[in-house]
Amino acid sequence: MGRFTLQSRIDCGDRTTSVALLEIRELSIRYRTAGAGVQAIDGVSLELEAGGSLGLVGESGCGKSTLALATLRLLPPQAELAGTIRFAGQDVGGMKERQLRQIRWRRAAYVPQSAQNALVPVHSLRAQFRATAAAHRMRATEADRRAAALMRRVELDPALLERFPHELSGGMRQRAIIAMALLFEPELLVADEPTTGLDVIVQRQTVNLLRDLRAERNLALLFISHDIGVVAELCERIAVLYAGRVMETGATADVLGSPSHPYTIGLRRSFPDIRDPERPAVSIAGHPPRLAEALAACPFAPRCPFAQPVCVAVQPPLVAIAEGHAAACHFAGDAAAMRSAANRPGLWDGARAA
Ligand SMILES: Nc1ncnc2c1ncn2[C@@H]1O[C@H](COP(=O)(O)OP(=O)(O)O)[C@@H](O)[C@H]1O
Ligand code: SF4
Ligand SMILES: [Mg+2]
Repeated sequence: MGRFTLQSRIDCGDRTTSVALLEIRELSIRYRTAGAGVQAIDGVSLELEAGGSLGLVGESGCGKSTLALATLRLLPPQAELAGTIRFAGQDVGGMKERQLRQIRWRRAAYVPQSAQNALVPVHSLRAQFRATAAAHRMRATEADRRAAALMRRVELDPALLERFPHELSGGMRQRAIIAMALLFEPELLVADEPTTGLDVIVQRQTVNLLRDLRAERNLALLFISHDIGVVAELCERIAVLYAGRVMETGATADVLGSPSHPYTIGLRRSFPDIRDPERPAVSIAGHPPRLAEALAACPFAPRCPFAQPVCVAVQPPLVAIAEGHAAACHFAGDAAAMRSAANRPGLWDGARAA
């Protein structure tokens, strides 16, 4: 594994403590706006091990991109952060620009949302590989050598390096961006909705590519999607976000096999189930809350078919319901009953306030 191996253990006297590659603790992010501001992330704690995979899933506007940008300190200046983000044990918030440059691209690469449109239209792919390389002091000859190898690896003809972005299909541009993200052989890839907007076949190819790249490079993946099915295919662990908070988290098999938060139960039902193709996909009525407005104690209460008066009065903490599996619902202990009730016709049809 050589150069891909993270120095992920630090010595504490005679004790050795394992350090997560990415560790987020009690992170809150607020955007200053002309109004009262937007609480995009609210008290989120997550971890990703070296070589591991974590899927962030949730509907549009729940804070996924904000969290992804924060991991590499790429947020706009109007974002205010509280809490900590550590990369390989180092506090990202406290880093000087020079230290950040050592990490961005080199150790942690970011594939932005709508990456297919992120390439500079007036430059060839080769020029864009070289510009990225030059910004991190890699020589053009080395950049060319790596670019050709990476293009082959993502199953694109290296001759396409001479082409301009508009000459490639959306799927090809996505592959080229992924190849560029791997230029410095990072340990972490943060990929924001890389399958969104692609047709089903290209989505499948992208998922397969990311899965293979992870395996062969021991690449950790923070994968963001609104599509729980895609996350299920790629990620060992999952965190379900709603209104900037973690509703449920754990091993993907546990969270999707035994969802214990009504939002996860509803989200799961809103996508087709390959194990039960006859089951119709039923969407959750209503919309996520606007984060510029005050929320109910449980932000999902206005859409939750199981809501009770306590849900709007007391914020449900994220508590463990099994080893490594936690949910933020007052009634997570009754999850089995909620899962069976979830099949009742009409249950998800109407928004209701508690
Ligand atoms: N630069 C910004 N200024 C103000 N509000 C923002 C900004 N970027 C995002 N938001 C708001 O933060 C919330 C979370 O957005 P985002 O992280 O993009 O969610 P997602 O990626 O899950 O769709 C949304 O309410 C969005 O409108
Ligand atoms: S705390 Fe109440 S409103 Fe929130 S998800 Fe659980 S049952 Fe629904
Ligand atoms: Mg987003």
